[in-house]
Amino acid sequence: DEADKDHLIRRPPVVTVMGHVDHGKTSLLDAIRKARVASGEAGGITQHIGAYQVELEHEKKKRKLTFLDTPGHEAFTAMRARGTKVTDVAVLVVAADDGVRPQTLEAISHARAAKVPIVVAINKIDKEGASPDRVKQELSEQELVAEEWGGEVVMVPVSAIKGENIDKLLEMVLLVTEVEDLQANPDRLAKGTVIEAHLDKAKGPVATLLIQNGTLKSGDVLAAGPVLGKVRAMVDENGIRLKEAGPSCPVEALGFNEVPTAGDEFEVYPDEKSARAVVGDRASDARATRLAQQMA
Ligand code: GTP
Ligand code: NA
Ligand code: MG
Repeated sequence: DEADKDHLIRRPPVVTVMGHVDHGKTSLLDAIRKARVASGEAGGITQHIGAYQVELEHEKKKRKLTFLDTPGHEAFTAMRARGTKVTDVAVLVVAADDGVRPQTLEAISHARAAKVPIVVAINKIDKEGASPDRVKQELSEQELVAEEWGGEVVMVPVSAIKGENIDKLLEMVLLVTEVEDLQANPDRLAKGTVIEAHLDKAKGPVATLLIQNGTLKSGDVLAAGPVLGKVRAMVDENGIRLKEAGPSCPVEALGFNEVPTAGDEFEVYPDEKSARAVVGDRASDARATRLAQQMA
């Protein structure tokens, strides 16, 4: 927007971690956060898209990165496709003992469709039978050729479990995003995407929101697709209460009238009346579509 011009800041890059089921996406994020979220999963399917922000020191400067985890199960392909729309770089996790698999290929096509650069994390290099060269060979058949093989794709061998080479991977991610235009205006009303949402028995609808522009504040009135909301409370990924959150921040927000749909965009409105008008139009559009489908 023209009005944004004087208020632009560089926002943190948003990184989506993608790849075949069980290749170590959640473990890699854990290694990055040095927390142990995946251990409770016991190699199971990730139940939701996690979103985290980490602060790193890079060339003596503090830099933030926002990470989105994506589940590897086939049922989540649609959500993963949406996931790439919000991302600035895709980290493609390929297990060195398993190689390129169907969901590796899907992840590659999602990243290409979203026109975002891919950084490959060749994971599980600690395992017996791990072959980073085989992974590179298989990826080159998909026209992803490693730099050291004369191509343009950064591939970093890592072990999420042993915490090996994680710093190198992060450095490469920062490097790749350095050349990208990542501007946002923190002084405007927030807009972004619903990353995940569910109904909590005690709290009501709970939504993980990624703010892509503006600043989201407690008390803001917003529409997420056809769902109206008023931010009642906001927390970060550690459960810390926030009064406001700026561009590239993931937050968990309470206060929606219904559970919004993951992948839908949200936007804050100056007052409840204008938000209601937008939501009302969308709801009647949705009804009309359903009716047309029933009659067809
Ligand atoms: P989904 O979300 O279900 O698609 O799986 P994921 O890609 O998030 O994989 P996850 O992190 O759940 O890891 C799957 C299994 O691989 C777990 O048992 C991990 O402990 C194991 N694993 C992950 N990274 C490594 C690694 O670097 N080395 C070894 N040896 N095991 C790993
Ligand atoms: Na898993
Ligand atoms: Mg996972």
